[in-house]
Amino acid sequence: MSRPLIIAHRGASGYLPEHTLPAKALAYAMGADFLEQDVVATRDGQLVVLHDIHLDRVTNVAEVYPQRARADGRYYVRDFDLDEIRGLSVWERMNEDGSPVYPNRFPARSGSFRIHTLADELQLVDGLNKATGGATGVYPEIKAPAWHREEGIDVAPALLDVLRQHGYSDKSDAAFVQCFDAAELRRIRDELGCELRLVQLIGENNWGESATDYDYLKTPEGLEELSATVDGVGPWINQLYRLGRKGAVPQPTGLVAAAHAAGLDVHPYTLRLDSLPPGFETLDSLLDFLIDELGVDGLFTDFPDIVRHRLA
Ligand code: G3P
Ligand code: CA
Repeated sequence: MSRPLIIAHRGASGYLPEHTLPAKALAYAMGADFLEQDVVATRDGQLVVLHDIHLDRVTNVAEVYPQRARADGRYYVRDFDLDEIRGLSVWERMNEDGSPVYPNRFPARSGSFRIHTLADELQLVDGLNKATGGATGVYPEIKAPAWHREEGIDVAPALLDVLRQHGYSDKSDAAFVQCFDAAELRRIRDELGCELRLVQLIGENNWGESATDYDYLKTPEGLEELSATVDGVGPWINQLYRLGRKGAVPQPTGLVAAAHAAGLDVHPYTLRLDSLPPGFETLDSLLDFLIDELGVDGLFTDFPDIVRHRLA
């Protein structure tokens, strides 16, 4: 069995503010196999790399544009042009009350970081691959496609265009396209004719990520059905094991085995040194479980250097 792929989740986001180009370059240098891009659209229809459809938890937007929040008090990427967005500072992720989500990461509200486009990032990866002789790939996620359509923009065709312009169009190219929305992935494959490798992200039904029924997708029938469209699944790590009595060893739920039986690769998210899932005391024990016991095919991680070290 080949070793699992290291997928840099929002870049080396354990060390630098997520989705910034420095975080991507650092992940590249740490030996990530793929860099992840979460993709959302601006008012002028540009695709930028940002995890949220909102700007307020990771930028200074409220200070620069105090009048531009919607009625819900949030600031939406979709309400700003690219030039305005490029002028914002990006910070380490904050909670609603302004406190840092990960207190031991890059200092809160500091640094000189900017939001960039998907094209900017593909150019960075291409340039680094050329300069180093490397072959690091890209792993874009279409965020909230149904919400974007309600907002008047269809992200998937635009994303596939940008990928094509940078040489990503076939199964053999170093790219995966991921999405939580199963209907959108079927559309990408069947209507838009995308031949890239596709990954179905699996969340929980109560997260409100999309209209997809994740409980069904986790069943052998659901996984078999998925295999007609996608090449792999990206489950939440917590869906891969269950805990029995206190102190008991985590037991596989069977999801990885069932996905493999359906011919699907499995790339769970997200491995974080500073936010371990229940039942695991150390990152090493979690890596041992995921790699040696479950045999996952890839790992989304905020700490690509640690996973690379474990796999050396
Ligand atoms: O795309 C894998 C993982 O990133 C999914 O969760 O919310 O961090 O994008 P999220
Ligand atoms: Ca993502």
